[in-house]
Amino acid sequence: KKTIGFIGWRGMVGSVLIQRMIEENDFENINPIFFSTSQPGNLGPNIIGKNKLQDAYNLELLNTMDIIISCQGGEYTNFIYKKLRKLGWLGYWVDAASSLRMKDDSIIVLDPINLQSIYSGINNGKKTFVGGNCTVSLMLLALGGLFFNNLVDWITFSTYQAASGAGSKNILELIKQMGYLYNSVSDDLNSVNISILEIEKKISKSIKEKNFPIKEFCAPLAGNVLPWIDYALKNNQTKEEWKVQAEANKILDTNKLIPIDGTCVRVGTFRCHSQSFIIKLKKDLSYSNIIQILQEQNHWVRIVPNNFQSTINLLTPMAITGTLNISVGRIRKLNVHSKLLSIFTVGDQLLWGAAEPIRRVLMILIN
Ligand code: HSE
Repeated sequence: KKTIGFIGWRGMVGSVLIQRMIEENDFENINPIFFSTSQPGNLGPNIIGKNKLQDAYNLELLNTMDIIISCQGGEYTNFIYKKLRKLGWLGYWVDAASSLRMKDDSIIVLDPINLQSIYSGINNGKKTFVGGNCTVSLMLLALGGLFFNNLVDWITFSTYQAASGAGSKNILELIKQMGYLYNSVSDDLNSVNISILEIEKKISKSIKEKNFPIKEFCAPLAGNVLPWIDYALKNNQTKEEWKVQAEANKILDTNKLIPIDGTCVRVGTFRCHSQSFIIKLKKDLSYSNIIQILQEQNHWVRIVPNNFQSTINLLTPMAITGTLNISVGRIRKLNVHSKLLSIFTVGDQLLWGAAEPIRRVLMILIN
């Protein structure tokens, strides 16, 4: 059995990873060692007997791992990765953070899309395997069939990204914001006398109060949308927007770059990212052909019929949350051009968006 070091297993992505590994009985095939950056010596998770947590900064011990899997975040990776390689460590580094994603010697992992690149990377001695940005992985799973059939000329997008993408504290803040707003009008909601405009006025006033919780988002997200994610680049994109074309082309290993650009937006949902795409097709395909191509690429795509009831039941963050399904719907040719295809998709940001590609590459690496 391979010895696998787990770092950052208690955070949000790490916890989802551990949960998925328990569901799939993955721990039966490995010898896990749990590390901690803050509490070495304490008891580890109760998975394979209660082992003591090891020190995540102990390079000598890390050096004995066959594989290290880190969900600890970019700061830890930046601090430890090079030091460990300098010691001559030749194990596999599997990471959820973005720090090493675009390096030449790393592979971005999303096996339903790039299993061949993963295998050839392993055969060519690559040792660093990194999960993609959540919107990128969810886009590629949703639209995989179009890419595989070389049908995509270019893509523009708008995202509707959940609070979870910004971190666990952000989910809590969103709920607090919702509660704050509710509390500011709760007495009025059942009153027969108060007008809706009065209620709306109170809400808009309370959202601006100095006690309204905005520490994490720097702005209200409840009752609001924030069309800015991550930091500004010199070309007027945000870093989040930049990642989409860069990472998608790296995962697809394209010879000719597929242009992809759009606007990344934070919305008040909890853990599912939605995305609206306009895709310029290279061919004018029939509707049924498009559905078949999308459906056949992987097991997780769920095509949603383009009608009201199916859409509100199946193509929403609340319909998808906690599942591996990738809902793909509102599929239609835009009236402005027969090669312009419009698609809306939803996926769980913590599962396929973060933990699942990492879990699956780990299983590939131990076999
Ligand atoms: N950067 C993403 C977001 C999550 O802010 O939603 C991580 O992939």
